[in-house]
Amino acid sequence: MYRIAVIPGDGTGPEVVREGLKVLEAVAKKFNFPYETKIFDFSGERYLKTAKTVDDKDIEELKKYSAIYLGAVGHPDVKPGILETGVLLKIRFSLDQYINLRPVKLYNPKFCPLKDKRAEDIDFVVVRENSEGLYKGMGEFRNKGTQEEIAIQISYNTRKGVERCVRYAFEYCRRRNKKKKLTLCGKTNVLTYAWDLWERTFYEVAREYPDISCDYAHVDATTMWFVKNPEWFDVIVTDNMFGDIITDLGAMIQGGMGIAAGGNINPEGVSMFEPIGGSAPKYTGKNVINPLAAICALGMLLENIGEEKAAKAVEDAVIKVVQTKLKSLAAGKMGYSTSEVGDLIVENL
Ligand code: IPM
Ligand code: MN
Repeated sequence: MYRIAVIPGDGTGPEVVREGLKVLEAVAKKFNFPYETKIFDFSGERYLKTAKTVDDKDIEELKKYSAIYLGAVGHPDVKPGILETGVLLKIRFSLDQYINLRPVKLYNPKFCPLKDKRAEDIDFVVVRENSEGLYKGMGEFRNKGTQEEIAIQISYNTRKGVERCVRYAFEYCRRRNKKKKLTLCGKTNVLTYAWDLWERTFYEVAREYPDISCDYAHVDATTMWFVKNPEWFDVIVTDNMFGDIITDLGAMIQGGMGIAAGGNINPEGVSMFEPIGGSAPKYTGKNVINPLAAICALGMLLENIGEEKAAKAVEDAVIKVVQTKLKSLAAGKMGYSTSEVGDLIVENL
């Protein structure tokens, strides 16, 4: 019996999660596996009423689940940063979800903003370190509020943290079995402490993976190549901040936030899956948001809990619908409502 913790969250989160759960119900029937869900209200609305986000007791509760399914975090009336750190980052850090896995795959070239790119040209995965770097929250103000003010924000990189991430990326690249190429995306020419450690670790671990070819790209050049030669990439490993930035660009070249999904993974613990776009307040409650990113996130969740066949069926249905039905992947322009897109996926399972 799988136990799925569901956090619909804010904005359009509940709408897209509803479609994901619709697909879960159908796919569980088809592949005959039992599951139960429990809804956790870690939302901006709840915060406004109770001043609560996610506390240590909630974390202990979440540890009892097979996986977590998250909609979106971010409420227009809550000061930016509170829900992000209090909910999303709190869960990522407390459950030690040290990998943020973000596939970038173009399902229909019609939806790619790049000229002359075929579906097979955009098919890579970003392995983003998810527990350290600039996200660690280390730093300080000096002389705050004065003309002499200094704000220091530290990028914190440990050998253990870097190595477990790099190792995961090599293993993932081997298992994926496509180009068998792993690119380290960094900034060795300027950030000479952090990226020296990353580079040394990367090439040391690489010796254990002679079947994988290794490559290095500076992060600025990486963004250029995402646009110019995305077909060069297979698996990319990078730190938390760079991974955050390049995966938004990755989402755009795969067709937009409507289709981009990711997993916050603790390979030895409880992982959390989410559409990577935000809560999209302006589309909330209108039944126009694209639920496919959330449905793809559900597919990743299924693979993570061991239901590979169900995961593949969900992805195949998404591909079919994206190739034969939708007019666009953007909110309000799909030619179908949010719930109709969910129904289409169920019909195509
Ligand atoms: C993401 C988001 C988060 C991040 C925010 C909401 C804290 O942008 O998942 O990429 O920066 O990691
Ligand atoms: Mn981001």
